[in-house]
Amino acid sequence: MNKNFINYHRPAIGREEIKEVISCLKSGWLTTGMRTKQFEADFAKYADAKFAVALNSCTAALHLALEAIGLKEGDLVIVPTMTFAATAEVVRYFNAIPVLVDVNEKDFCINLDHAEETIRKIKSGKKVACVPARHNGIKAIIPVHYGGQPYDVNKCRRLCKKHGLFLIEDCAHVCPAHYKDEKGKWQYAGKGADIACYSFYANKTITTGEGGMATTENEKWADRMRIMSLHGISKDAWKRFTKSGTWYYEIVAPGYKYNLTDIGSSLGIHQLKKADKFMAERKRLAEMYGKALKGIPGIILPKEKPDTKHSWHLYVIRIDSAITGIHRNEAYNMMKEAGIGCSVHYIPLHMHPYYREKYGLKNGDFPVAEKLFDQCLSLPIFPGLKKSEFDRICTALKKILGACR
Ligand SMILES: Cc1ncc(COP(=O)(O)O)c(C=O)c1O
Repeated sequence: MNKNFINYHRPAIGREEIKEVISCLKSGWLTTGMRTKQFEADFAKYADAKFAVALNSCTAALHLALEAIGLKEGDLVIVPTMTFAATAEVVRYFNAIPVLVDVNEKDFCINLDHAEETIRKIKSGKKVACVPARHNGIKAIIPVHYGGQPYDVNKCRRLCKKHGLFLIEDCAHVCPAHYKDEKGKWQYAGKGADIACYSFYANKTITTGEGGMATTENEKWADRMRIMSLHGISKDAWKRFTKSGTWYYEIVAPGYKYNLTDIGSSLGIHQLKKADKFMAERKRLAEMYGKALKGIPGIILPKEKPDTKHSWHLYVIRIDSAITGIHRNEAYNMMKEAGIGCSVHYIPLHMHPYYREKYGLKNGDFPVAEKLFDQCLSLPIFPGLKKSEFDRICTALKKILGACR
């Protein structure tokens, strides 16, 4: 690898994390234990949640959240098409049906008007993409805080109340982000959900390498998720091999193996302490991009919406090729040739073979997501991105776009 190549992401791992991992390795306790318990307690406090369950991915959190609310085969779940595989695949784990809806052009987040129109159509028996003739009705909605920009939580909560839906949030990009609730009070993204699911994957805002967290105010769901994360064996199964534990256990359900290790939590405990600082650094970089890339014809820059605080997990620009004369794909390739890693978030789910074939979906079904997909390019944004690297990224991008006009 060219050492001058600017990777799309570099995790910010400090001395504290390394020291803690070494202590964990030396302690003789590598899997779920006291460090994970501490990480859960710290996270619950940080996210202003009553309960936090540490898991080995956000995908696991989403899966267990749906299990906890009792999702069954034939249930319908509303999911935005502009998201990562995990948001909808967890619905398929139950043989339930993800009902895809379009997103807003302004923030790439779920279009709640389209979601409501879809709900109304389903309730009145009209034909809707993805929905088979026989189903059990709509059980839940899984909005995504796309890129770190909170979706309209207040509107969604009203929608859920009106139609009796569970609200499971995909918070993979928002540790942390904030929004103002209906009373004008700042809330942590995830706070408005029945269950919120966070990711600590290697390129996320904070990381445990692989990892996730589910938060909720509901003790019954928290217990269920905890039990199901460790083979469905009785509460605090992880204590079996400690001094206070016992060999005896009971299987109460056929669970999964989704527990987070203490090695991961060693990273998480210290990453969480830095989460606000990391967020401020990404915000600063977003503002720098905003200034450096302002006014380039055909480029649309992301903006923080009123009454929200963006996590700036992603910095997604849009390239309108009709104006720039260069398509996003070419821009991506030319950036790569210039030694800069970019990314694309996302190919909408309905454009993937599985969803196309399974549900008869096709291009044209969700026009806004398709337009955004065609134009979007994610630039590197992470704590530790050097000023010299930032300048190289902006210069290369401007050159690429300017050279092609
Ligand atoms: C929007 C979204 N949801 C869910 C996930 C899944 O996260 P994890 O890799 O922790 O399972 C990701 C990961 O990239 C994501 O971007």
